[in-house]
Amino acid sequence: MNRLVYVLNGPNLNLLGERQPLIYGSDTLGEVEGRCIETGEKLGLEVHFFQSNAEHELVNLIQEARRTAAGIVINAAAYTHTSVAILDALNACEFPVIEVHISNVHKRESFRHFSYISQRADGIIIGCGTQGYDFALQRLATLLAK
Ligand code: DQA
Repeated sequence: MNRLVYVLNGPNLNLLGERQPLIYGSDTLGEVEGRCIETGEKLGLEVHFFQSNAEHELVNLIQEARRTAAGIVINAAAYTHTSVAILDALNACEFPVIEVHISNVHKRESFRHFSYISQRADGIIIGCGTQGYDFALQRLATLLAK
């Protein structure tokens, strides 16, 4: 069985740990990647972790995952609220998709309350800090075991 999962991160998440730490916490993206790989190993998943500031690169990675992977965890960051292109790419995938947001977007500005990704996601984890990535991988493993 295919156990490869892509964890995709959108714009500005490369600045995790430096950027607005009161909102996003102090973990760096490198630390989150290390934890995702470890959590994946415990769950029997092979995690490929990516970050891009470019919408088309995220679309290309989703199309690549469509051919190679068994599921996606995605924090599309600001593109969550704007990107029909990312939603269309996810809609072309048949495997489970879990959406993650580090901060509680519903406690923040109203423009963050709408998510294109949520129109497709099989599960959504919001406001659990970077631990949300671990929860998302756990959920993906459960869905893949079914
Ligand atoms: C975010 C929330 C988005 O609204 C924001 O644009 C981000 C990060 C989060 O993880 O909380 O860049 O997706």
